[in-house]
Amino acid sequence: MRILVTGGAGYIGSHTVLALLNSGYEVVVLDNFSNGSWEALLRVEGLTGKRITLVEGDIGDRGCLDHLFAENAIDSVLHFAGLKAVGDSMADPLTYYVNNLAGTLTLCQAMSCADVHELVFSSSATIYGDGHPMPLHEGLPSGRPASPYGRSKLMVEEVLRDLAGSDNRWRIALLRYFNPVGAHPSGEIGEDPQGAPNNLVPFIAQVAVGRRDELVVYGNDYSTPDGTGVRDYIHVMDLAEGHLRAMVALSERPGVSVWNLGTGRGHSVLEVIAAFERAAKRRIPYRIEARRPGDIAAYWADSAKAQAELGWWARRSLDEMMADTWHWQQGNPCGYQRKLGIATG
Ligand code: NAD
Ligand code: UFG
Repeated sequence: MRILVTGGAGYIGSHTVLALLNSGYEVVVLDNFSNGSWEALLRVEGLTGKRITLVEGDIGDRGCLDHLFAENAIDSVLHFAGLKAVGDSMADPLTYYVNNLAGTLTLCQAMSCADVHELVFSSSATIYGDGHPMPLHEGLPSGRPASPYGRSKLMVEEVLRDLAGSDNRWRIALLRYFNPVGAHPSGEIGEDPQGAPNNLVPFIAQVAVGRRDELVVYGNDYSTPDGTGVRDYIHVMDLAEGHLRAMVALSERPGVSVWNLGTGRGHSVLEVIAAFERAAKRRIPYRIEARRPGDIAAYWADSAKAQAELGWWARRSLDEMMADTWHWQQGNPCGYQRKLGIATG
C-alpha cells in the first residue's frame, strides 16, 4: 500500500512516516518545508533502511496535487500539513485559515478527482473548548476553541463530515490529539521548534541543554492538585502507532470516525518538570508567572473508544516521554541543524 503523508517532514509526520515504513508501507511525503526538515526525512531513511518519495509542494497547490496523484497510485492519505502556533494564529488568522482550512479543501478536491477517498486528519483536543466534565470523550459536543488555530481544526472537522455525508465512498478519521511530546528512542528524530518554543516540553528540554536560562511556569493558582495546569501528554510514537491503527480500521468504516489519542492521564506542569529532572539528572530552573491568556486549567482524554475500536492504547509512560525527549535534545542541542553546522538562536 502506498500512503501520502502531508506534512511528513514535521514532528508528528516524520515519526509516523518511520512507523509506516517499518510496517511495510510505501510512503510519499508532501511538504512545503515551512516548518519541516529534510534532515528529518534523511534520518528516517537511515533508521528504516527504506526510501521515501518526497514531493516539495503545498497542499493548496492543486496543480502540484494533481501531478502527485497522477504519478503515484495513492491508497490512503495521512494529513498532518498545517500551521500550529496558537499565538501566531491570533495575530494572523487569515494565514491560518488559508493554510489549514483552504489547503485541506484543495487536498480533498484533488483526492476526489484522483478517486482516493481515505483520509486521516490531524485534529486536536482544542476543539472540545472549555467547560466539559473530565475526561473528554468523543461524544461531547464541540465547544468554541480559544484560537483561530483551534477553530480551523473544528471547521475542517465540519467540512469533512459534510463531505462524507455527500458521498459514501469517503472513509475519514478525525484524530483528536492531546499533547504530543517525546521523540523516537534512537534520539535521531524529535521535535525541533523554530525560535523560542511555545510548548512546555520543548522549552524544558532547551533549558536542560543550556539554550535557555529558565522556564516560566504560567500560573500556580489553578484549581488543580498543585495549582499548575494539567494536560494529557502522549508519546509521539504512541501517536504514530495510533495513526496506523486508524488507517487500517478505516478500510472497513465508511463515513467519519472520531478517536481521541491520549493516555487518559493528566499531569501537572510541576510533575512534568520533575519527570524531566529525573530523566536528565539535572535541575530545571523555573519561576512562576501569571497564567497564559487562553489556557484552561486541566483536561485529559477518555481514550476508551480507541482502545475498544482500534485495539490501541498509549503504552509509554511520562518518564519514557521525558527520557526520549532528553535523548533527542542532548544528541541534537540545536535540533536538525547540528549536523549541518548552522548556527542557531
Ligand atoms: P509540524 O509543524 O512539525 O509539522 C507540520 C508540517 O506540515 C511541517 O513539516 C510543515 O512544513 C508542513 N506544512 C505546513 N503547511 C503546509 C502546506 N500548506 N503544504 C504542505 N506542507 C505544509 O507540526 P506537528 O506538531 O507535526 O503537527 C502535525 C499536525 O498535527 C498539524 O496539523 C497540527 O495542527 C496537528 N496537531 C499538533 C499538535 C501538537 O501539539 N504538536 C496537537 C494537536 C494537533
Ligand atoms: N506551560 C508553561 N510554560 C511554558 C509553556 C507551557 O507553564 O513555557 C504550561 C501551559 O500553561 C499549560 C501546559 O504547560 O498548562 C501545556 O502547555 P503547552 O503549550 O505545552 O500545550 P497546550 O496544552 O497549551 O496546547 C497544545 C498544543 C495545541 C493543541 C493542544 C491540544 O500547543 O496546539 O495542545 O491539546 F491544540
